[in-house]
Amino acid sequence: MQSEPILEMRDITKIFPGVRALDGVTFDLFPGEIHALVGENGAGKSTLMKILGGVYPERGGEIRIDGKSRQFNGVRDAERAGVAVVFQELSLVRELTVGENIFLGREPSRLGIVDWDRLYAQAASFLRELGVDINPRARVGSLGTGRQQMVEIAKALSHDARILVLDEPTAALTDAESKHLFAVLSGLRRRGIGIIYISHRLQEVLEISDRITVLRDGKTVDTAPVARLTEQQLIVRMVGREVSQLFPRTNRTVGDVAFEARHISVPDPARRERLLVDDVSFAIRKGEVLGIAGLMGAGRTELLTALFGASPAGFTGEVLLDGQLVKIRNPADAIAHGIGLVTEDRKRSGLVLDETVLTNMTLVALQRVSGAFVTDQAREIHAGKPLFESLRIKAPSLFSIARTLSGGTQQKVVLAKWLLNDAKVLFFDEPTRGIDVGAKAEIYQLIDRLAQSGVAILMVSSELPEVLGLSDRILVLRQGRIAGEFSRDRATPEAVMACAIGGTATAA
Ligand SMILES: Nc1ncnc2c1ncn2[C@@H]1O[C@H](COP(=O)(O)OP(=O)(O)OP(=O)(O)O)[C@@H](O)[C@H]1O
Ligand SMILES: [Mg+2]
Repeated sequence: MQSEPILEMRDITKIFPGVRALDGVTFDLFPGEIHALVGENGAGKSTLMKILGGVYPERGGEIRIDGKSRQFNGVRDAERAGVAVVFQELSLVRELTVGENIFLGREPSRLGIVDWDRLYAQAASFLRELGVDINPRARVGSLGTGRQQMVEIAKALSHDARILVLDEPTAALTDAESKHLFAVLSGLRRRGIGIIYISHRLQEVLEISDRITVLRDGKTVDTAPVARLTEQQLIVRMVGREVSQLFPRTNRTVGDVAFEARHISVPDPARRERLLVDDVSFAIRKGEVLGIAGLMGAGRTELLTALFGASPAGFTGEVLLDGQLVKIRNPADAIAHGIGLVTEDRKRSGLVLDETVLTNMTLVALQRVSGAFVTDQAREIHAGKPLFESLRIKAPSLFSIARTLSGGTQQKVVLAKWLLNDAKVLFFDEPTRGIDVGAKAEIYQLIDRLAQSGVAILMVSSELPEVLGLSDRILVLRQGRIAGEFSRDRATPEAVMACAIGGTATAA
C-alpha cells in the first residue's frame, strides 16, 4: 500500500443522550484503497461516517486529512476537504433533475444566471466517467435505487472527493447493479480515491475490500488486511461469539390449510391492462413456511402487497382464511383477519419514527385487543419487554424514540410489532435486509418458532440461501406467473435460479 494515509481518525468519541455511540475509535484510510467498515446494527458505523462527513461537529478525538488536523462544522466543510458521503438514507431531492441534484447549491452560472447548458453538459460528463447511461435531465424520482446511487456517486465526483464513503450502498440493489457498482469502485480506486465501504453482506466485503475494520459497541475491535480473514472469523469479531447454526429447524408439523389465494392478478397502477401478477394460486398450511423466489421485477413484492390490501390498483381473485372467503380491501381488513406484513421498507411497515420503541411495538396488537387507543402501559411493557430482550434491540430503553435507532435496529422493531400481534398469517418481504448476521440468526429462529406455533408464513427474499434455508416449499415467480414449485429437498440453488431466469430446469 502507498506511503501516507489520506485520512486518520484517532480516538473518536460521540455521546448521544443515554448512549455512548463511539468510544475511542481509530480508523485510517490510504489513497487507492477500499477499506470496509463492518459491525452489528448499532455498532456505530453510520455515526463514525457522519462525524467524518461533518454532520456531527461535536465529538471527541482528532481527524487528520493529509496529515493536517481538521474540525468540520458542517457538511460543506467536509466536502471542501475532499470528503463525500453517500448516506444510508439517500439524500437526493426527488423532484429535481439529476443534473440539478449533482450541482445543488453550486450551479454553474454566468452573470448570476444559472448556465443550464453547462450544468447538464458537466453532469453528463460525470455520469459518463462512471460508465452509466442516465439522462441528466431526468427527474431523480423517476430513477430506480441503483441509478440514484450512481447519481450520488457522480455528485461526490463533482466535488473532487478524494475520500468517498458509501454506507450500505447495495442494500437495495439488484445483483447486476451491485456488480456494476463494484466495477465503478475499482475504477475510482485506480484513480487513487480512498473508499470507505459499509455493508452487512460479508461475502461482498471480502470480495472487494483491501482492509476491514470491525466495530463493536462503539469500539474498534481490529483492522486487518482482507487476505487474512475468513467470513467465519469476521462474524466472530462482529458478534463476539460463534453463530453456528444460521438456519435453525425444529421438527414442525404442518396442519390444515390456513391461507389460500386463488387466481390472484394485480394490475399495474400506471397501465391497468398490464398485469404485475398474473393468475397466481397457492395455499399455505398452518406451520408451513412457503418461500417465493424470483428475480427483481418478477412480481413478488406486488403479490404480497396486494394480498395485504395495500396495492394501489387492488387485485382480483379470491382469498380464503381457514376455508372461509374473506374480503381484503385495505391493510386494516388484513390486520383484522390476523394477517401481518413485515417489509424492509420501514415506512410501509408502519414504523412511526417519532414514537417510542414500545409504542411502535404494541401499536397494532393493543389496538386489536382494546379496540381503542386507551392503552395500559404496564400491559404494554409486560408484552414488549421479553421481545425487546430476545431480539436484542439496541436502544437505551423501551422508551427510546425510533428515529434515533440505527437502521437495522428499526427493522427489528417492525418485526417485533408483528410478532406481538398474534398474527395467523405473516408475510415477510425481505425481512432481513440491512440486518447484521447475529440478528439474522435470531430472526430466523423466530420465524421457525412462529411456524412451530402454527402460523402460516409466506416469505419473499432475494437472498437465495435465506429462502432455501427457511422454506418448506418454494414457488418461483417469473414475469408475474408461477414458473415452478419446489419441495424443500428438490430445491437446489441452481435449479431455483434456472427456473427464475427461465432456463430449462424442470420443477419438482
Ligand atoms: N441521532 C441520534 N440520537 C441518539 N442516538 C443515536 C443517534 N444516532 C445514532 N444513535 C445511536 O448510536 C448507536 C450507533 O448507531 P449507528 O447508526 O451509528 O449504528 P450502525 O453501526 O450504523 O448500525 P446499522 O448497521 O443498523 O446501520 C446506536 O445505539 C444508535 O441508537
Ligand atoms: Mg448504519
